[in-house]
Amino acid sequence: MSRFYPLTVASVAKNTRDAVVVTFDVPPSLEPAFRFRPGQYLTLRTTVNGEELRRSYSICAAPGDGHLRVAIKRLNDGAFSTWANAELERGDVLEVMPPDGHFTVDFDPAAQRHYVAFAVGSGITPILSLVKAALETEPDSRFTLFYGNRSSSAVLFREEIEDLKNRFMARFSLIHIMSREQLDIDLFNGRLDGAKVRELLGSWLQPSSIDYAFVCGPQDMTESVIAALQENGVPKSQIKFELFGSPPGPRALRTGRDAPQAPGAQTCELTIVQDGVTRTITIEKNKDSLVDSALAHGIELPYSCKGGVCSTCRCKVVQGEVDMDANFALEDYEVARGFILSCQSFPVSDTLTIDFDQET
Ligand SMILES: Cc1cc2nc3c(=O)[nH]c(=O)nc-3n(C[C@H](O)[C@H](O)[C@H](O)COP(=O)(O)OP(=O)(O)OC[C@H]3O[C@@H](n4cnc5c(N)ncnc54)[C@H](O)[C@@H]3O)c2cc1C
Ligand code: FES
Repeated sequence: MSRFYPLTVASVAKNTRDAVVVTFDVPPSLEPAFRFRPGQYLTLRTTVNGEELRRSYSICAAPGDGHLRVAIKRLNDGAFSTWANAELERGDVLEVMPPDGHFTVDFDPAAQRHYVAFAVGSGITPILSLVKAALETEPDSRFTLFYGNRSSSAVLFREEIEDLKNRFMARFSLIHIMSREQLDIDLFNGRLDGAKVRELLGSWLQPSSIDYAFVCGPQDMTESVIAALQENGVPKSQIKFELFGSPPGPRALRTGRDAPQAPGAQTCELTIVQDGVTRTITIEKNKDSLVDSALAHGIELPYSCKGGVCSTCRCKVVQGEVDMDANFALEDYEVARGFILSCQSFPVSDTLTIDFDQET
């Protein structure tokens, strides 16, 4: 269900100097709605200084942990993260959308796999969930984590990750990569990016041993690491990624498009299927995205980043055609099946039906 639920903050704990871990109280009546798969995220909504803010935060717990929590790292001038680090307190109520996202795999107790993850900074949050779930669910699988940070003081969940290492000593390898702190092994100094991954694949890690690779961090890091993995023979279908940073540009409110004008009529009959309800509206073709067009008609579709990054606005085109400006979230097979990001999509055909209830 694409709606927000009010959840009370059970605790706010400092994890590093500029990151807090926020744990929510989930009342029994909402437990089914907030069941999650490892690697999924929550969309949080609040109002700061009169402005509504929505942001996505990955769940940094495994499904078996018995709690729902996220870690929010403060960014310079970041509206939500600064507010959460400075003001959010136990007992506050946030609007929270149920878990979403496809940065995950189906863990199988009978599997015998080698998972490898590349995380930078706060990109560790979904990876922590995946590491725990993999090691706890699959007794014959192993996990190698490359975790990039400036220095050890910036490492999120340092103790928790060390505990995991001690608990799963034979199956969990942890390699820190530091950009501003000298480590003994030269290979582990510098930035965790595509160039570093090429070096690692040439010496430390056999690409052929990787069953699934998870990559999480800002856009440039994610793209370059994926390219390095593919160049070294890791198939795209075995690489999962989650982008944290919005690419520049889409933050700006759209007032029109530069793209070529859609053919035919200037308007489109848009039919929206959402939570079992069907509604039809007439929208302009070359003006706003589907999300913004629907909002202008008083219909709230699910969204968070509006930048093509988070996939909260994912839906399926059942009839008609759209033009999607940016896609940093959907995988090729999803696009082939007709899924789109409605915050980035504009109607091309004169009639269009989009469905938010279809999962596959
Ligand atoms: C699926 C997903 C999961 C995520 N999980 C996490 C997580 O677990 N932990 C986490 O910390 N983050 C996570 N993020 C990132 C998070 O959603 C936010 O993007 C992040 O916290 C920044 O939000 P903000 O409101 O603080 O910053 P914003 O106000 O959105 O600003 C973002 C950046 O842009 C800069 N900026 C602000 N205004 C402008 C402007 N006008 N022009 C140019 N630049 C500007 C700011 O300085 C800041 O550095 C995730 C994102 C996604 C998509
Ligand atoms: S709202 Fe984030 S991708 Fe559309």
